[in-house]
Amino acid sequence: MSGNITFTMIKPGAVQNEHIGPILSMINDAGFRIVSMKYVKLRTKQAEVFYSVHKGKPFFKDLIKFITSGPVIAAILEKENAVQDYRELIGTTDPTKAAEGTIRKLFAKSIEHNAVHGSDSDENAVRECNFFFSYNERFAQDGNCMSV
Ligand code: CDP
Ligand code: MG
Repeated sequence: MSGNITFTMIKPGAVQNEHIGPILSMINDAGFRIVSMKYVKLRTKQAEVFYSVHKGKPFFKDLIKFITSGPVIAAILEKENAVQDYRELIGTTDPTKAAEGTIRKLFAKSIEHNAVHGSDSDENAVRECNFFFSYNERFAQDGNCMSV
């Protein structure tokens, strides 16, 4: 599953401001296939595990507070060179420094409330996909999606 997938979250601010549709459109227009997707609200403990790499940093507490403040869209995206290409599509962490036309430039309010998450390596992409999706859910579009 490594190499051609990345993980994204549309963060609470962008969800609350009704930016889900435009952001998903940009993702599709850039050539990514949405392999799996869910609408969930993280609990504090879950967010602390997801962002454990940032534990101890000055922004950690506020990051956890923000990411648990409302529902997020979590999705697995597939494309050749997915991790790098998606980082390019979203732009840098600080939206004031992000390139024109990037998701963060268009939809982020600030470095703290920066609209979307994108994995930073193939290894982390796999870890993050596994965090949010079970085996069957990860292959939802191959016919293993849950029936309701
Ligand atoms: O999300 P990205 O990989 O671009 O940045 P990061 O360095 O992995 O940081 C994770 C998240 O922490 C960012 O997306 C921001 O939401 C937040 N952050 C912050 O609030 N203040 C900072 N100085 C750096 C990051
Ligand atoms: Mg990161």
